[in-house]
Amino acid sequence: MELVSRMMDGSLSYDPKSRLGPVLSGFAVQQKGQIALRELAIFEGCSQKQLRSVARIARVLDAPAGTVLTRIGDPGDEFFLILDGTVSVDVLAGRPVPLRPGSFFGEMSLLDGGPRSATVVSETPVRLLVVNRGDFSVLRREVPELTQILLVTLSRRVRHAEQRADRMGATSGSL
Ligand code: CMP
Repeated sequence: MELVSRMMDGSLSYDPKSRLGPVLSGFAVQQKGQIALRELAIFEGCSQKQLRSVARIARVLDAPAGTVLTRIGDPGDEFFLILDGTVSVDVLAGRPVPLRPGSFFGEMSLLDGGPRSATVVSETPVRLLVVNRGDFSVLRREVPELTQILLVTLSRRVRHAEQRADRMGATSGSL
């Protein structure tokens, strides 16, 4: 869904009537139909000017439960930040990884140009902030702190993936 409007104060407006229910975490979504970008951890240190850039660049997407948001092997052109709801990342080793409001996904294909590394499906109705490939570079230029957050998150995900692979190796070795 395209944004209804982009606010000069760096928040995004949306139609509260179409608000998803139940809202699992409403921390980014305020009652007056504004999405307060600053309340998302990823943007908390941003200046007003940076928030205005994000508001200009991003769009809001609502999707029902069961929507395939990325499919492993497909080319990927969008970065997603979860505002509401939960998605499930189907990883190769182990159980699916749930991602909750404030988390992002889809950054890998945009960073390295490779295909989607995993299938991501909405477990509940979700509201997402979406940034396309061209605007992702603009976003990283306008909000340089984002690159650090991407690196830290990628490192954690690699660590967790290795731990899961280790545990699976240990389990199959003991059979
Ligand atoms: P991308 O490869 O573009 O599309 C699928 C996304 O799933 C990927 O970017 C990451 O954002 C996310 N993803 C892949 N592997 C993991 C993981 N082990 N944990 C959490 N998220 C992941």
